[in-house]
Amino acid sequence: MSRTFLSLTVALAMLCVVALGASRVHAQNAALSFKIFCARCHGDDGKGDGPDGASLSTHPQDFRDCAAMKKISDDTMFKAIKGGGASVGLPGDMPPWGQGLSDDQIHGLMTYIRGFCKK
Ligand code: HEC
Repeated sequence: MSRTFLSLTVALAMLCVVALGASRVHAQNAALSFKIFCARCHGDDGKGDGPDGASLSTHPQDFRDCAAMKKISDDTMFKAIKGGGASVGLPGDMPPWGQGLSDDQIHGLMTYIRGFCKK
């Protein structure tokens, strides 16, 4: 085995470890952001039963409801989170998050939200 090949293999292996770590941090961040920013209305497990949701005129829907969630396109979901409910014709009770969350963070949250539906 040549030396170059060996160091290339090592470099590749290290890259994989870094990439894996990053995606795990990403998923953890999404879970944490959801707990901090969203769960008070949407509930810890996406059921829509967060403590602040109860006092709203529109109750957040159940993210575990696969049939209902399938009807919401990624585009709409992204817009709803970034621009708030009003930006997609939902009641204004859903606040906009575009100021506080990056597009990347929103995409992470979307993956997390989609994960509530278990078939
Ligand atoms: C103040 C309460 C509140 C907070 C905080 C909140 N939401 Fe909402 N959210 C709502 C309400 C009310 C709706 C509209 C009813 C519905 O469709 O679920 C909604 C709707 C949504 C929808 C669209 C669902 C659909 O029907 O199209 C998504 C996606 C969503 N919220 C994600 C989030 C995320 C992600 C966060 C955190 C960054 C968050 N929400 C924080 C109250 C809240």
